[in-house]
Amino acid sequence: MFNLGDMRFNIITIFPGLFDSFLNESLVKKAVDKKLLNFNIINLRDFTADKHKTVDDTPYGGGAGMVMKIEPVYKALKKIKGLGKKSSPKKVILLTPSGKQFDQKMAEKFSKLGEITFICGRYEGVDSRIDNFIDEKISIGPYVLNGGEIAAQAIIEAIFRLIPGAVGNIESVKEETFSFKKDGKLVTAEYPAYTRPEVFEAENKKYKVPKVLLSGDHKKIKEWREKKTRG
Ligand code: 6GU
Repeated sequence: MFNLGDMRFNIITIFPGLFDSFLNESLVKKAVDKKLLNFNIINLRDFTADKHKTVDDTPYGGGAGMVMKIEPVYKALKKIKGLGKKSSPKKVILLTPSGKQFDQKMAEKFSKLGEITFICGRYEGVDSRIDNFIDEKISIGPYVLNGGEIAAQAIIEAIFRLIPGAVGNIESVKEETFSFKKDGKLVTAEYPAYTRPEVFEAENKKYKVPKVLLSGDHKKIKEWREKKTRG
């Protein structure tokens, strides 16, 4: 049976080491320990057939740069297909700067899936025949990264914190998540936050916490926060 919040991420990459600290030194690790998340980092070179473990080649028709070969990616996808739970709703996503731009709405949609496979593109892209074997192409913004690894990590962070129980304070997640939904657009609605000390001194200046926050008047505080919300 597919359980909501019981998620599996498959990541196809030529740099599996880039996921070491991501998986071992963050809240992601806690969620893995709680068995809410499951990671399968796949080294693309394990699916090559030649001595040099070649994953890229020159483009047909000429031109600059290298193109990621289709066979190793296809073989890796095929292997993954047999691993996860059959009943899980799944998606295969190619990470590329030319994909649809990732947003909070997509994070919410994806957080309800049981399994996501990310193909981290490198070089000048993947052989275009990959389109026959993926569900979506996604980008994290209008700029070019050398590969999809950081994009995968950004997307996973956005998704996993929406899974019930994955992040400690569900209220803080909820509060901001609700404020994201205006015409389905991301409107960062975060009010300015302060913590101790009440007066911070640096370079002969005093930086004070706004008085209203120390007043204990919850109605006033709420009004102040609404007024100050950054959008
Ligand atoms: Cl998903 N990949 C690469 N290589 N660059 C990007 C990106 C992805 N999203 C924004 N820039």
